[in-house]
Amino acid sequence: MAATSQYLKREIIESDIALLTFDRPESTANIFDQPTFDELKEQLNFLETEKGLRGLIIRSAKPKIYVAGADLKGFTADLNPERIAVLIEQGQRTFDRISNLPFVTVAAIHGVALGGGFEIALACDYRVASLDSRTKVGFPETMLGILPAWGGSTRLPRLIGFQKALDAILTGRQFPTKLAAKLGMVDAVTYPERMIGVATGLIRKSDGKKRAPRQLLVNHPPISKLVKSEAEKKLKAKTRGNYPAQQKALDVVFASLTLPHEQSLENEKNRFVELALGSEAQNLIRVFFMQERAKRLKVDFGESSGVSIKDVRKCMVIGAGLMGAGIAQWLSARGIRVLLKDIGPLPLAKGMQSINKLNREAVRRYVFSENEARTAYDRIVPVFEDVPLSDIDLVIEAAVEELEIKKKIFAALEGRISPEVIIASNTSALSIDEMAGSLQHPDRMVGIHFFNPVHRMQLVEIVRGPKTSALTVERALRFVKSIGKLPVLVKDSPGFLVNRVLLPYMVEAARLFREGHRLANIDSVMLDFGMPMGPLRLTDEVGLDVAAHVVYELQGRLAHLGQLDDTLERMMAKGWMGRKSGKGFYKYDTGGNESPNSELGSFQPAEPALQNEGDVRDRLVLIMVNEAARALEEQVVEAAEDIDFGMIMGTGWAPFRGGPLRFADSLGIATVVSRLKNLQARVGERFAPCALLSEMAEKGGGFYHQDRGA
Ligand code: NAI
Repeated sequence: MAATSQYLKREIIESDIALLTFDRPESTANIFDQPTFDELKEQLNFLETEKGLRGLIIRSAKPKIYVAGADLKGFTADLNPERIAVLIEQGQRTFDRISNLPFVTVAAIHGVALGGGFEIALACDYRVASLDSRTKVGFPETMLGILPAWGGSTRLPRLIGFQKALDAILTGRQFPTKLAAKLGMVDAVTYPERMIGVATGLIRKSDGKKRAPRQLLVNHPPISKLVKSEAEKKLKAKTRGNYPAQQKALDVVFASLTLPHEQSLENEKNRFVELALGSEAQNLIRVFFMQERAKRLKVDFGESSGVSIKDVRKCMVIGAGLMGAGIAQWLSARGIRVLLKDIGPLPLAKGMQSINKLNREAVRRYVFSENEARTAYDRIVPVFEDVPLSDIDLVIEAAVEELEIKKKIFAALEGRISPEVIIASNTSALSIDEMAGSLQHPDRMVGIHFFNPVHRMQLVEIVRGPKTSALTVERALRFVKSIGKLPVLVKDSPGFLVNRVLLPYMVEAARLFREGHRLANIDSVMLDFGMPMGPLRLTDEVGLDVAAHVVYELQGRLAHLGQLDDTLERMMAKGWMGRKSGKGFYKYDTGGNESPNSELGSFQPAEPALQNEGDVRDRLVLIMVNEAARALEEQVVEAAEDIDFGMIMGTGWAPFRGGPLRFADSLGIATVVSRLKNLQARVGERFAPCALLSEMAEKGGGFYHQDRGA
């Protein structure tokens, strides 16, 4: 017997087990939207009344997604507390109905089960997860400024214990199958094709008895209180009070340990509504939609003319240094064969060693298995001599940042690869157009700019030179998306987008330091603002030499940045390159701990500068806002959203503030301009507001709210 509706299919297997399959039509994902809930309720009407059923299995028909969670659009458009409360209640009641079914229920999870997707699974008695790298469970809600409120904050601690549940909910981590099993989030693991068999086995074995709740020591005082106070301390240090969702989630999970189920759900709902209405959640949910937008990014290359774009199966990576090795590792782990080229055996050996280290770390973190790591490593062929290149689909150059060297590499390469292969440079700041000058077919040259470290940074800038063809851009976009990165399309211009906005900020921080501001204060002001790292610590991390190189490149081409001071230069003369050399603005011990570099005393005036946090913050933040606005004015990107997206994804720019331009809007453009003018008069000409900001301040409106005040 089978009953098919639009979103859910019901079958009866082995005569007494219901099998419910989520299969949202014309979509690769299942999500909980209204039609899905409506059908699920109908299915529950049947399941609750049908006699003779011994069990229920809930699975998905999608290859990559179990259920991806709630439809987030419900929490952005038409915000009102009553409507959000109704949405939450609907999920809670529906999942309670599943949990109260009179027979044994099993979630057979293949693909991503996040948020609501994991909550429906938690409402079942048991969870079976597939041994597949696409299968992951978790609660990303706090990353979106909200919390699991369809019973997740209540059920998870009861299943795996307070501490582990808190860790999962506060980090938003996505747990791969084996780790989830180790933590008790899933009960059994098996190969995808054996899922139903194992789920059926669990139902038969339970002999009609629902699973009894667990008694966990950690969920009771004094342990639970201790865990809470430790977690609070850690949270405060990490969020500096900026992420209300984390604190509220902690409170809700802790309260769930003692509250009756119904009341705990009520608590989840009330705190959720408060959070969803706040600007932090709204901005964080916007980041999610910006990511979705990036996944859909494409350019018109004349598809109708019949040109087809091949998948990249083999890629040549030139340069096995920090970036080349990182890129080769990422590609090989995604099934792409890599020809890794450098100038000699030594840099290649070093590169392969760091690839191996990255793979080891990924295995340790359950990103992939030992076997997958070995296979990925074997996909890389290191070479330092010329080899045939006829089967190469794409070239990514990540050799040293020297224009002449890069030009030589390209000129020597062009004749040896087939005409449709695009040549990409990972340059941080050199002109794509100048590089293309060395090619007979400059239309095939493009920038594919990864960020460091490659395996952690999702953003990739696709740099379009004046001669880059639309087809080349589209090829680059498809490639970047196919390897799970998020592209932003930028014009070939000094520093492209991210470095252009970031470097003036790093330079300003060095200036503040030279003026006598305390190192720790400069960094902590920006940590309080919401940056993942202070600007001086970031300079150390990037490397003073790398930062200085980009700064000089930018300064030569962006006159308004003004005269550079020589702080970085003087530090480099002492051999202080930042973290990699053990010393920079900070010094680093062998355990990786840092403390301010006391030898820097001679760089500062005898008299410390007046410590004014507001002023320090304005100088650091508004110099970025101004540069971001100028980049938009010069059409480095198409929309304000591209800039905010690029800065958040490329630098971790306080995501809950929505990015520099969204932040400018929230401050009010008139305020931004008046503060910039004040800084211009007191501190320097580099703060002169750009034309776009001045014009907006005059006419009213903002980057996102064109209508305001006009
Ligand atoms: P690196 O100095 O770590 O590695 C460069 C590698 O290129 C070395 O192994 C060197 O032996 C090799 N090389 C030099 N000449 C070569 C040639 N003719 N053929 C083949 N290989 C050659 O440099 P890193 O940091 O990996 O940077 C590489 C590129 O990536 C540069 O263009 C840089 O601007 C860019 N980049 C760097 C970032 C960073 O944070 N370090 C971030 C994003 C881009």
